[in-house]
Amino acid sequence: MKFFIDTANLDQIAEAQSLGILDGVTTNPSLMAKEGIKGKANAIKHYKAICKLVAGDISAEVISTELATIISEGEELAAIDEKIVVKVPMTLEGLKAIRHFSNVGIRTNCTLVFSAGQAILAAKAGASYISPFIGRLDDISYDGIQLIAQLAGIYAVQGFQTEILAASIRNPVHIVRCAEVGAHVITAPLEPILQLLKHPLTDIGLQKFLADHHKLND
Ligand code: G3P
Repeated sequence: MKFFIDTANLDQIAEAQSLGILDGVTTNPSLMAKEGIKGKANAIKHYKAICKLVAGDISAEVISTELATIISEGEELAAIDEKIVVKVPMTLEGLKAIRHFSNVGIRTNCTLVFSAGQAILAAKAGASYISPFIGRLDDISYDGIQLIAQLAGIYAVQGFQTEILAASIRNPVHIVRCAEVGAHVITAPLEPILQLLKHPLTDIGLQKFLADHHKLND
């Protein structure tokens, strides 16, 4: 399972990269706004800075909603760097745009996926990734992990090449459960990724090892 970081914050991306386990980055208009990135020129500059930091795929989301403008915006984003994957929302126009991008060799991440039907359509249209939002499903009392398991089953049975990129991850248990049920990729903020490291018995065990060593050697 690949690990992407879900942020547009350059410091956090650099920190995740330094861990040696980072495979890519996902952004969205909310995450770009959180970093104060305003206007197209600044957005392009920011994506270029992310591309310099990370070797893997970097999702950059369109803000257009009509087919023609999704296509022109997506082409502009894809031209920034070969690492850029154009993130397109799961709408009728978005679906048509994903088919177009697939036909011309531009990779896509179909975002705002909340059902198996949407995931099947995105795969049929040739999306490189789909982003089911598991935390937001949990928020409305649906089981986000159950959706990932269902999609992993469907994609395996059907032989779809589209990768399931579990998004809207809120905690380390989400990440572990995604690994169990067959997500191809998770994207998460830095904090849940770092929380995977933590276990109280690791800390207690290390303290004891060091104390025993120092008793004899100091
Ligand atoms: O990748 C999608 C993600 O950024 C949404 O997360 O926590 O706003 O549901 P959240």
